[in-house]
Amino acid sequence: MEPKNKRNIHCSILQELNEYREKDFTFASGHILGSMCTQPHPIAKEAYIKFLETNTGDPELFPGTKEIEFKLITFISELLNAPKTAIGQIISGGTEGNITAMWLAKRLTGKKEIILPESAHFSFQKIASLMDMKLVSVPLNEHYYVDITKIKDKINENTAAILGIAGSTELGTIDPIPELSEICLDENLFFHVDAAFGGFVIPFLKDLNFDVPEFDFRLKGVSTISLDAHKMGYSAIPLGTIVIRDKKWLDEISVESHCISSRKQAGILGTRSGGPVAAAYAVARYLGRDGYRKVVENCMNITKYTEEKIMEMGLTLVTKPTMNVLGVKMKNVPEFVKKLSEYGWKVNKIDRLSCIRIVIMPQTTKKIIDEFIPVFRKTCEEVGEL
Ligand SMILES: Cc1ncc(COP(=O)(O)O)c(C=O)c1O
Repeated sequence: MEPKNKRNIHCSILQELNEYREKDFTFASGHILGSMCTQPHPIAKEAYIKFLETNTGDPELFPGTKEIEFKLITFISELLNAPKTAIGQIISGGTEGNITAMWLAKRLTGKKEIILPESAHFSFQKIASLMDMKLVSVPLNEHYYVDITKIKDKINENTAAILGIAGSTELGTIDPIPELSEICLDENLFFHVDAAFGGFVIPFLKDLNFDVPEFDFRLKGVSTISLDAHKMGYSAIPLGTIVIRDKKWLDEISVESHCISSRKQAGILGTRSGGPVAAAYAVARYLGRDGYRKVVENCMNITKYTEEKIMEMGLTLVTKPTMNVLGVKMKNVPEFVKKLSEYGWKVNKIDRLSCIRIVIMPQTTKKIIDEFIPVFRKTCEEVGEL
């Protein structure tokens, strides 16, 4: 049993932690409406705690955890229609997915230029700085996805890779991945698809007969796809995956690892908790394809409902939502967001497009939107948006 003095310290530490936690916004409250992360599914929490001490970077010590990792990668590879030659890696999220893909592209091609849509996630700035690569930006068209007619002009003998985004950070739009894939096949270029957000949405939109483009390995030009379970996969942070078309490519981003049980280690991270792996696997097993489809259907219904309420107010969207992301135009984005935050609601600023971003995640119910809309209207009136 814990000695009395230690018990007191224990209690006071937990109390201190509670005080810090109370300063946070919570997904459970429903008031976080701008984030692409989610309140993890309840089974994720149980699984996470069970695997807290495990290290997937040291598979001989934790062979059971390694098996779970393999099963999760198999589930995701099947979701992406990956070929038998493919291999998946668990990573921390979309940033690491993009870094890993560009590291691979640079190693395979020996080149340094990345052709990417204007809407690329800011992690590409890190890539340019970390790996001394050059970003060649391509404008978007009126639908806010990349203008395909502008791509070919940018290709030259220094091109290492092209990026396509399947669910953009700003508006959830999808680049014309099939056309980009064709270009990459013709030009023999590395093609990375950033599906950090859309990877757990698009397959189910397709099942629900939404008109969205193909984005996965059925397109022969696709080299790598990254997607995050801690976004629309309904699981806990940090859990991303990158799937690589040809397992032989992994050698390019592997090193010998003398002091642990595996001979070689691929990718950026060393020690990695098995907690988020177990959590994501548990959610995937629990929900399965049918469960994820229902989650996406529900998010899309609530997105439509929110869109209607916003239009009724007389506000305008930047573009019609492709998935569960709404960009609402504002005259004064910082003032609006600050005022809304004072009322206890959080949306994200997209300064570049002079809009705010609302993301309808699995925990966002119609009831939450019904609570939110009057506060949203009041805030708009107070800051002069209406
Ligand atoms: C399309 C896309 N890629 C990459 C990222 C980066 O993901 P993370 O913050 O998990 O590293 C995000 C984050 O929202 C994203 O939307």
